[in-house]
Amino acid sequence: MVPFDQRTGHIWLDGGFVDWAEAKIHVLTHGLHYASSIFEGVRVYGGKPFLLREHVERLRVSAHILDFDLPHTDDELCAATVEVVAKAGFADGYIRMNAWRGSEVIQTAAPKTSVHLSVAAWEIPSGYYAAADALEKGISLQTGQYRRPSADSAPVKSKAAGNYMIGTVSKNLALRAGFDDAMLLDTDGMIAESTGAHIFFTKDGTLHTPTTKCTIEGITRATVLDLAARQGIECVEAELAPEFVAEADGAFICGTACEILPVSRIDDHTYDLAGNKVIATLITEYASLTRSAN
Ligand SMILES: Cc1ncc(COP(=O)(O)O)c(C=O)c1O
Repeated sequence: MVPFDQRTGHIWLDGGFVDWAEAKIHVLTHGLHYASSIFEGVRVYGGKPFLLREHVERLRVSAHILDFDLPHTDDELCAATVEVVAKAGFADGYIRMNAWRGSEVIQTAAPKTSVHLSVAAWEIPSGYYAAADALEKGISLQTGQYRRPSADSAPVKSKAAGNYMIGTVSKNLALRAGFDDAMLLDTDGMIAESTGAHIFFTKDGTLHTPTTKCTIEGITRATVLDLAARQGIECVEAELAPEFVAEADGAFICGTACEILPVSRIDDHTYDLAGNKVIATLITEYASLTRSAN
């Protein structure tokens, strides 16, 4: 795969388009030193960004939690993103929006730094998030080394870059141990989410998912809840202890990038995906929604 800084095309940076290779920041940038940096990932289906406004609104929420404002309106950001996708010219892909504090100071307090924004988009190759056969075979999760901090310990409701070191280390360890991803617990030892997706379980035809008390408000999670309600599938949102892994008869993760991916194994516990109608229904409904929305 071509490294991301060596690709070609155009990136929207601070209000205008620059050549892909020129979309650079200086090493003395607050966002790099102190993780005053946030992002959004948006899927493109049939050439159109899916739920773009929801992602832009969440970007703004993430910025406010890190105590900065975005220097563009939601309308400007939506229009810029649509232009980025049109210039990129692909049908199915992924958009990455970033916002970060600039270089005016290199010290923790930074109330008056400039805020920068970029939007880039690329095609998603098969196997980008999981193996190509993951939809049929499911993925395996290992309980992560690090726990998601509580909302009073870290800005966990912000899609802040700094929160992702937990997921990166946990997922690296999981991959090394032969798993596909990690399942993160919260500080109370309850199930929180995966490293880049929310988690759901099925039990006797009912869905169960942890609350979002220490995670971002998932846009795909909300869509799944909506699809489940339309299909008459009951869903319980509650604290889930790790023991629930063995009580459940199935599981899946869901997020913008991975969509809905069934889980075949968590640590030593395996799930039989074959007869799980709830998961199969949600995968079908989500695929039809994303493919028909545009
Ligand atoms: C840590 C984490 N949890 C959950 C999600 C799922 O959120 P969404 O469905 O809004 O993409 C993501 C992806 O953005 C994520 O990075």
